[in-house]
Amino acid sequence: MKGIILAGGAGSRLYPLTMVASKQLQPVYDKPMVYYPLTVLIASGVRDFCLISTPKDLPRFRELLGDGREWGLSIEYREQPRPEGIAQAFLIADTFIGQDPVTLILGDNVFFGGDAFPRAFAEFKSGAAVFAYHVTDPQRYGVVEFDARMRAVSIEEKPVRPRSSFAVPGVYLYDNQVVDIARSLKPSARGELEITDVNRVYLERGQLQVYRLPRGFAWLDAGTSSSLHEASAYVQAIEKRQGIKIGCPEEAALWRGFITLDQFEQRLGRMPNCEYRDYLSTVAAEARAGRLPYGVPRAG
Ligand code: G1P
Repeated sequence: MKGIILAGGAGSRLYPLTMVASKQLQPVYDKPMVYYPLTVLIASGVRDFCLISTPKDLPRFRELLGDGREWGLSIEYREQPRPEGIAQAFLIADTFIGQDPVTLILGDNVFFGGDAFPRAFAEFKSGAAVFAYHVTDPQRYGVVEFDARMRAVSIEEKPVRPRSSFAVPGVYLYDNQVVDIARSLKPSARGELEITDVNRVYLERGQLQVYRLPRGFAWLDAGTSSSLHEASAYVQAIEKRQGIKIGCPEEAALWRGFITLDQFEQRLGRMPNCEYRDYLSTVAAEARAGRLPYGVPRAG
């Protein structure tokens, strides 16, 4: 499964923070925002990445993430010159996707808890899979409606009168049909190729699987000053209380076996003295002692 991280957009709602660094490079507590979605996909077993951002911001992402080798990944980079919709990513990355299935994650979505994602990735065979999360403000999102047997029956983008309280978060899994579907889309009223229109095509074909994320699962979006602050506060509260870190790509790459413990230790040896490095040292010590990592979602 190929992985696309979409980190485009002007980030205008975070101005002036976004004058010199894009939204997805802003800190969510102790890490750059993009670390969180990257880690979600690593933990779900994805190794081949394409990061899409604006021509202005792309060099900074390259500086931060490199070619991915240190995490046992391959990361390539593509430009989205104008914000013309999430589904445009499949046109920009068509040669990267090739004949493979692909997952897309939005660079500003922060998730934590449980193993819903690794399980869905392990189960995925064909069609499309998306998730549903209960929120108080569904009109800000793609909204999925279920019938009495909890089968998805409709999906709408930012409806004025939502048919349910279930929003669709920014993680999507698709088979290779997605490239042709994206090619066939017309821009919406806001001038974008909508990811919800892609999902509706799969729904109409009877090929859309919708997983409801459980209570206790956290999905935070970090697109406004207030939600950015809330996401940071959440990450800090969990990390401080539990002594674990959320959104740590090195750790996820180690669990998944993308890097060896030796490679992991070499990487942390190159880091300056900081809390992040101290944390990775405790992870390495546990692994050296042969103890399984705490609460790590395991697929399959
Ligand atoms: C986008 C999608 C929407 C989805 C949301 C998740 O919204 O269009 O369907 O629910 O991401 O973050 P936007 O970021 O364009 O407001």
